[in-house]
Amino acid sequence: MEYSQKVMEHFMNPKNVGEIVNPDGVGTCGNPVCGDLMTFYIKVEPKTDDLNSARIVDIRFKTFGCAAAIAVASMASEMVKGKTLSEIKNLTRNEVAEELDGLPPIKLHCSNL
Ligand code: FES
Repeated sequence: MEYSQKVMEHFMNPKNVGEIVNPDGVGTCGNPVCGDLMTFYIKVEPKTDDLNSARIVDIRFKTFGCAAAIAVASMASEMVKGKTLSEIKNLTRNEVAEELDGLPPIKLHCSNL
């Protein structure tokens, strides 16, 4: 199994790891295939229900996951930071995997997180 250079970079030096105190949103999910867990924290400005205006100004994650899961979380966090909620609401696991220059087929399920 070979990982791309980008996967290795994000695994070895993940971006946006950690937790936000008093976040505007928290989401936790698990991968039933392997039992891995991931939690994302976001801070949004301005505080509004208008998805076209509310922008992610900070994002952090913690994961109990494999190398691919760490790389996916790191890349996803970079892809959404600074974007409005409407810009990111349709982001797919495939887009994140593509941005990482692909994942080995056996690790594609990790991008579900
Ligand atoms: Fe569990 Fe990758 S093996 S997320």
